[in-house]
Amino acid sequence: MFPFGDREGQLITLEDLPLGGPQQLAYPMDPRTKTVRNGSTLNLISLIRFDPAQLTEETRELAARGVVAYSAICTHQGCPVSMWEAHAKNLFCACHATQFDPRDRARVVDGPAPRRLPMLPIKLVDGVLTVAGGFTGRVGGERPS
Ligand code: FES
Repeated sequence: MFPFGDREGQLITLEDLPLGGPQQLAYPMDPRTKTVRNGSTLNLISLIRFDPAQLTEETRELAARGVVAYSAICTHQGCPVSMWEAHAKNLFCACHATQFDPRDRARVVDGPAPRRLPMLPIKLVDGVLTVAGGFTGRVGGERPS
């Protein structure tokens, strides 16, 4: 589950996410202990809602009724991917202008990032968006060589 960072205890629901973006940034919360995993920015997630028909099949399999969740940490140099390119409906990293397509497993559309944003599988449990598995790849930027 994903609480709003600025609204005490309130969980993000489907209705809170505008259809077609932009993203809502959130940290996941452990449903048992109610601990919000905000100790590291590596846990920052982008949640975006689309019409499921707009998602690739691979993406739809890890989405919940059109809601997709991705690491919000850029795979280039680890900046937060906090911007939204409204025309193309892409996630946008302002550090070096990488765009990721959230309808296609956050594929790199433009810019220097070397790989997709890892996806976080989610599901709906009693109407609440809930983490359904681990990230599909390593979270974070490239390590300096
Ligand atoms: S850190 Fe995101 S494009 Fe460079």
